[in-house]
Amino acid sequence: MMPQTENDIDLSEVKDAAAFLRRDNPVIPHLAIVIGSGLGAFLNTIEKTGQFPYATIPHFPVSSVAGHEGEWIFGTSDGNPVIILAGRKHLYEGAGVAACTFAIRLLGELGVRMLILTNAAGALSRHLLPGDLILIADHINLMFRKPLFPPNPERLFDRLPCSAETYDIRLGKIARDVASAEKIPLKEGIYLGTMGPSYETKAEAQFMKWLGADAVGMSTVLENIAARQLGMRVLGISYISNSVLFPGIQGKITHEEVLANAKLVEVNFAKLMRGVIRAISVSAVVEELHESG
Ligand code: HPA
Repeated sequence: MMPQTENDIDLSEVKDAAAFLRRDNPVIPHLAIVIGSGLGAFLNTIEKTGQFPYATIPHFPVSSVAGHEGEWIFGTSDGNPVIILAGRKHLYEGAGVAACTFAIRLLGELGVRMLILTNAAGALSRHLLPGDLILIADHINLMFRKPLFPPNPERLFDRLPCSAETYDIRLGKIARDVASAEKIPLKEGIYLGTMGPSYETKAEAQFMKWLGADAVGMSTVLENIAARQLGMRVLGISYISNSVLFPGIQGKITHEEVLANAKLVEVNFAKLMRGVIRAISVSAVVEELHESG
């Protein structure tokens, strides 16, 4: 079926892309990670076994944002198999929710069962500072969109999915345990997803804070919703790139500031990711996935 609106995804395109990736990579890892703005240093720690610029994957939407390399990577982290998505499509690029979640539906089609979503976010809470890493406890969707409308004739997924455990409790505990063992400061908070691409007005920032959000960003929420509909367990990690309540000395938030501040955290981010991948790969969560096929 051809897509009718920006909300629809053509599942036959997802299947084409999956067949393409499977051809050279018949054994698909259980775990995938989406890397946020400026966090590419972690990629240097990955032993790459297959690299596919997004433009080479059939039907794959290509990101147009600086700092998002746009590449699908099969690899290992300290010997543990993982898929890395370096670069993502954002709603503010004008492509619609289907394009923003194509990669997630593709991961689902390939059989990936666990997903780590990472992003840059602005701090709304006084307790968060540029350079902090936070575990996303939950999210608020202020994008006014949901990626839940693909044609579903075979009832492949739940049309009205439950949103009670948006971020997986056990994966969250693993991240906290790794952070404390490795002495990496890891805070916790509610992530609010906005369409962007303008940064928040002062009044909007107050409103978001009042809603209960600790951090705000322009990604992750739609990906999480699609992944949860597909039954994946999701871990969310934000790095705080700027303060929304107290913008930088120049009084302005810029994408350059977001990317530059990633440098404050990239070493700890890479350490946390490696530790989490290692811990997940030997954990009961993975054993359970093997048992359930
Ligand atoms: N607002 C929205 N999205 C963001 C921000 C911000 O301040 N920083 C990084 N992504």
